[in-house]
Amino acid sequence: MNILILGSGGREHCMAWKMRQSPLCHELYIAPGNAGTALEGINWAVDPNDFPAVKNLVLEKNIGLVLVGPEEPLVRGIEDFFQQDTELQHIPVVGPSAEGARLEGSKAFAKAFMQEFGIPTAGYREFTAETLEDGLAYLTTQQPPFVLKADGLAAGKGVLILDAVDEAQAELRSMLGGKFGAASSTVVIEQFLSGIEFSVFALTDGHNYQILPVAKDYKRIGEGDTGLNTGGMGAISPLPFVDADLMAKVEERIIKPTIQGIATRGIRYRGFVFFGLIKVGNDPLVIEYNCRMGDPETEVVLPRTTNDLVALSMSLFDGQLSHHAIQEDHRAAATVVLVSGGYPGDYEKGQAISGLDLVEGSLIFHAGSKQAGAGIVTNGGRVLAITSYGATFPEALNTSNQNATRIEYEGKYFRSDLGFDLK
Ligand code: AMP
Ligand code: GLY
Repeated sequence: MNILILGSGGREHCMAWKMRQSPLCHELYIAPGNAGTALEGINWAVDPNDFPAVKNLVLEKNIGLVLVGPEEPLVRGIEDFFQQDTELQHIPVVGPSAEGARLEGSKAFAKAFMQEFGIPTAGYREFTAETLEDGLAYLTTQQPPFVLKADGLAAGKGVLILDAVDEAQAELRSMLGGKFGAASSTVVIEQFLSGIEFSVFALTDGHNYQILPVAKDYKRIGEGDTGLNTGGMGAISPLPFVDADLMAKVEERIIKPTIQGIATRGIRYRGFVFFGLIKVGNDPLVIEYNCRMGDPETEVVLPRTTNDLVALSMSLFDGQLSHHAIQEDHRAAATVVLVSGGYPGDYEKGQAISGLDLVEGSLIFHAGSKQAGAGIVTNGGRVLAITSYGATFPEALNTSNQNATRIEYEGKYFRSDLGFDLK
């Protein structure tokens, strides 16, 4: 069958690489894709948020399966758009309905969902401009640090963690006053949790689920987890601190009640659920849900599964998911992300990338790259993800770090200390 992947990051390149390996995959299209996805299939210059343009592409290319990489088209309702269109409704879309995507698109929705279904998470209150005074007073009753979250999607910038109550009050006022536009017209204030974070992914048809390999990403720009948050500087799988006992708690306390909650509410959800978790003491709590795979976690999670991703995806639509147990590759995997100088602040695009042909023993997943004439140039903050296998994660990281030094472009930066907290 012909397959369309929507998105243009390292996650989508990795998905394309994985789907390309399936005997079920005939033509593979990626919209809009990057210089790496062009090696796996055919890039098409269509914006995933332009649903009528996606429809034209799907009909023109006789697409039989659509995989949605990023959250934005899901939160905007691309799955519902397909369901409501007589020419598209028979075509499987991997990704939840807009209602399901609210687990990521609205923090207040996600918190209320967790409360209703007894899923462990930080205690919280939500406030709007009408209840600003209550919010300011509430902050004075809480202990620092204060965690303020814009309700809606804010390009990863909507969470503020502040030490001083007057600062938190000023931020609450500014968020409710439109700091993040409509995304912060509701603000969630929640209890601060202290522990180590990790990511668990499940594939669900809204009733059944399969759990993918666990991973951890490194969000801060600086070594030792310092400096600004980024989209993700690298990832590791599996994790020494996530043992069978902790995973059993994650499944019983978090995954099962989440899927049951989705089923109880009658939410149409055929796609990935990303559980952003934190281990507090010996117990897992939910920090956030996402309605898609993580990036760069995908770049270690998919290489560590030996399943056919096309068959697995199709099983969400024919009731066969329970027959598709996830098969793990028992090697460790690590990915190191090369970024543009200045990221996550301002950075230059269009720097020529060299040395890709010198890479040995790693997989290269492109993120912000594009073809320019005969060469490849940088085209985003996160440029390339270098994934390696190893008997252990330090061995895998070592290979990725070595290859990271072989690739060159003006302003290249990467963290060479990933896993520092796991040793
Ligand atoms: P989120 O967008 O909800 O994942 O939040 C972004 C980041 O903020 C998380 O990955 C955590 O590092 C941090 N964070 C969010 N909520 C909390 C919390 N309740 N306690 C401590 N850290 C948090
Ligand atoms: N790596 C975190 C995310 O994809 O949101």
